[in-house]
Amino acid sequence: MGIELKDVSKTFEMKNKKVEALKPTDLIINDGEIFGLIGFSGAGKSTLLRLINLLERPSTGSITINDVSLDKLSEKALRIKRQKIGMIFQQFNLIESKTVYENIEFVLKASKFDKHKVKDRVKELLELTGLSDKINTLPKNLSGGQKQRVGIARALANDPEVLLCDEATSALDPDTTKNILRLLKKINQDLGITIVLITHEMEVIKEVADRVGVMSAGEIIEMNDVYNIFSHPQHEVTQGFVQDIYDFVIPPHIQESDGSQVITIKFLNENAEANYVNQLYRHFDLEISILNGRIEYINEMPLGFLMLHVQGDTGEIAKLKTFIDDSKGIERAEIYG
Ligand SMILES: Nc1ncnc2c1ncn2[C@@H]1O[C@H](COP(=O)(O)OP(=O)(O)O)[C@@H](O)[C@H]1O
Ligand SMILES: [Mg+2]
Repeated sequence: MGIELKDVSKTFEMKNKKVEALKPTDLIINDGEIFGLIGFSGAGKSTLLRLINLLERPSTGSITINDVSLDKLSEKALRIKRQKIGMIFQQFNLIESKTVYENIEFVLKASKFDKHKVKDRVKELLELTGLSDKINTLPKNLSGGQKQRVGIARALANDPEVLLCDEATSALDPDTTKNILRLLKKINQDLGITIVLITHEMEVIKEVADRVGVMSAGEIIEMNDVYNIFSHPQHEVTQGFVQDIYDFVIPPHIQESDGSQVITIKFLNENAEANYVNQLYRHFDLEISILNGRIEYINEMPLGFLMLHVQGDTGEIAKLKTFIDDSKGIERAEIYG
């Protein structure tokens, strides 16, 4: 079940050059999860997403959705299967001359939805997306967030198994982005729809994704659950994407030397107790001052940071470091940036 890519690659061949947009990739996206893909522009995210519903044909490999091999389907069977794969876009892709109602009706008509049930279905979708009062409005009179809600209603019209989101919030302001992400999360939880979303913003991943793949130059270079990506980023590109939460600058008046060091501590999950600093004060004959601190919530799980300035005997500082390294759920943090 879920989405399975086996050895999938895509090379665009043009007159005088080839672009390997996706290198051979194996990927399993689990049924019912929100899977995020992050990467810079040109990394190959949209290509990968478009391969999932065969809007782009793979150069190699096979794509399976809920145990159906898409590449083996006839054109007609593929068209029907595609109705079960919704898609939303950065630019919303609405029909400007049609009202909200007509925009959604259009999708249902195209899929030969039972005529007598169209009206009720549209109303149901408008309720779900919070647009009931905009039923007769034209897209040009909607805000960006409302337009994307229509886009979502259209994508959900045929009761999809999978929803693909290509930079769906990139044209929206931060508050509207949060609202739309909340709606996507609700759709995932209430309707059990698997969501694949691509973005260049780590904030989007942090807000909704369960797992994330980091893409660079046509490859998924790192993949993990979102908490682990934030707490233990491995690849340089990943470290760059999460560096904002590690952005602790050592104040200029602090001079590091053997007897004066800055140590940043990372508290994983529920280990961010104030008591821990008391322990350090009690156990070590050092002068310890707090320079900075912060707790981030990732999927509602805390990830805490504390930047300390410790002064005293070099051996005692070494012992403190060992103490930290031996503490469960507590680590010394690298600073990326
Ligand atoms: N239809 C196409 N023809 C030729 N090159 C393409 C086409 N689509 C994408 N590319 C190229 O493939 C690479 C990946 O593009 P894309 O998947 O759009 O990246 P992203 O969505 O991460 O910005 C880029 O170098 C892009 O120029
Ligand atoms: Mg793209």
